[in-house]
Amino acid sequence: MNFTKRTITCGEPRIDHVGQTVTLNGWVDGRRNLGGMIFIDLRDRYGLTQVVFAPDHNAAVHEQAAELRSEYVLSVTGTVRPRPEGQTNTEMPTGAVEVVVDAFEILTASEIPPFEIEDDVDAHEDLRLKYRYLDLRRPVLQKNLLLRHRIYQVVHRYFDEHDFVEVETPVLMKSTPEGARDYLVPSRVHAGKFFALPQSPQTYKQLLMVAGLDRYVQIVKCFRDEDLRADRQPEFTQIDVEMSFVQAEDIYTLLEGFARRLLKETIGYDLALPIPRLDYFEALERYGSDKPDLRFAMELVTLNEVLAGTEFKVFSSALVGGIVSAINVKGKAEEFSRKKLDELTERAKTLGLGGLAWMKAADGGWNSPIAKFLTEPQLADIRTAMGAEDGDLVLIAADARKKKALEALGTIRLELGRELGLVDRSAHRLLWVTDFPLFQWDEEEQRFYAEHHPFTSPKASDLDLLDSEPAAARADCYDLVWNGNEVGSGSVRIHDGALQSKVFSILGLAPEEINEKFGFLINAFRFGAPPHAGIALGLDRITTILLGLTSIRDVIAFPKTNNALSLMDGSPSPASEAQLKELHIAIRAKE
Ligand code: AMO
Ligand code: AMP
Repeated sequence: MNFTKRTITCGEPRIDHVGQTVTLNGWVDGRRNLGGMIFIDLRDRYGLTQVVFAPDHNAAVHEQAAELRSEYVLSVTGTVRPRPEGQTNTEMPTGAVEVVVDAFEILTASEIPPFEIEDDVDAHEDLRLKYRYLDLRRPVLQKNLLLRHRIYQVVHRYFDEHDFVEVETPVLMKSTPEGARDYLVPSRVHAGKFFALPQSPQTYKQLLMVAGLDRYVQIVKCFRDEDLRADRQPEFTQIDVEMSFVQAEDIYTLLEGFARRLLKETIGYDLALPIPRLDYFEALERYGSDKPDLRFAMELVTLNEVLAGTEFKVFSSALVGGIVSAINVKGKAEEFSRKKLDELTERAKTLGLGGLAWMKAADGGWNSPIAKFLTEPQLADIRTAMGAEDGDLVLIAADARKKKALEALGTIRLELGRELGLVDRSAHRLLWVTDFPLFQWDEEEQRFYAEHHPFTSPKASDLDLLDSEPAAARADCYDLVWNGNEVGSGSVRIHDGALQSKVFSILGLAPEEINEKFGFLINAFRFGAPPHAGIALGLDRITTILLGLTSIRDVIAFPKTNNALSLMDGSPSPASEAQLKELHIAIRAKE
């Protein structure tokens, strides 16, 4: 098909172009008829330019323009002229000029789109996902994809400069446990056998270290069949990294350099280094979370010592093996009515606590329903411990299950921080959370799970605990937390076959099972595995945070819904009988 190709994009025309004849190719963004003229904003990826069909300039062209509708694709040739006095649009980069049309061609007509292509669209997300290609015409979404593209470039440049090699790892593989369910792919050639899609390339990147690649990076798709949320997709992208002959410190240094570069080159933000660190237990005790949001303070304070020997039942029963922890909602006592405090108590109950105690600092003492259960010295000590001044509200959580109490209060801290506007939205606060427990005990199944994954090394100092008290062993691992989101996770790896087998057996795998599932890895360790460590960053989450968004669907070109469906192409969909037969699969009707 012949058409007049553009000489300039729709984002370019400026005062400098006045008098020039230009050709634009793009979509009709909207049409207005005014004073006998027809105005159209022509849109492409680069921007919008106003084009004018004026009867006194070219009557025939003006007449033809009557048939133009939204989303028609045009080639427009015309002359750039300044907009008349007072008509300049300062919101638009091209807003000082317009193109008065000499000739145009309709390259393709369009049906009426199911929703208006505009930044603050009010169409339901399901409709937008069904017509994602139209949704993606919206400049906001294009901006997101462009920033994502910038991130890829920073990754490639930064890691290349640091001698990393990008290697593609298989998508059809043996299952690697990362704690989610696998997506399975049936084999046609091998009846009854399945590949798994990678939950991560964890085993491959470790094998690349055994192979001597020394430094590996990959921007890689991972697949996890798990319950979805705003920050989770079944198919997502990691910046996957592994290094040989290093320790955790080397990973911190490398990633801190990367984070600084990334913030600078994408949004021009200067990240101060080093990134602070908290070990897991301290994070839990001070923020009630393993991914603290450091953009506001309101830290948790443990009151166990202050309350030692208390006769108040709620606290004394918690002090047996548990914790009494509190936050000071600075200067907000007035804002919390009885009703609001009751609501907070209800919230604490839904979070699994028996209740929530409150104390308002007033007249040098306390106004609180629990004050009568505490001694004068205790009341005074709480003021000191909490740094409480008149007008402050102190909220106290007590539970014999320490983690439960801390996490519940941590959630309340976060919710209040947002609600009260304490979060500095322009800040970027990064944090390493380190030394998680190696194992998690599952009460229901009566077995251990790996807190990170089974390839994570115990801390050297905790090796003995594997035999005596596995639950107490800490891992040589680290999470990267950004504004309260877990954006990365990694560890120093086990590189010794015997230790790896031992960890598998603590995880309840029988020797045959270890051999069947991970024999290839343990075998590899028999031939000289270097000490190695690595990390994977969640690229979708990072993009979302850099753009100040809340849903990772907005930074993925073709995301799935929260139900793991692709509304656009209707997948997943049934397979034909013939295809299933070839794959040796029969579908059983649901009973
Ligand atoms: P992990 O499972 O913690 O570690 O994943 C690393 C990072 O990937 C991101 N992420 C996700 N993002 C979107 N949707 C999901 N469903 C999803 N799941 C995880 C998170 C997370 O921090 N192999 C190890 C890494 C290593 O040890 O090197 C791993 O995959 O931001
Ligand atoms: P009760 O003895 O149940 O009437 O509780 C006395 C006070 O302690 C009330 O203000 C409760 O909200 C509070 N309270 C109850 N359970 C807890 C808990 N787990 N942590 C903190 N405060 C609690």
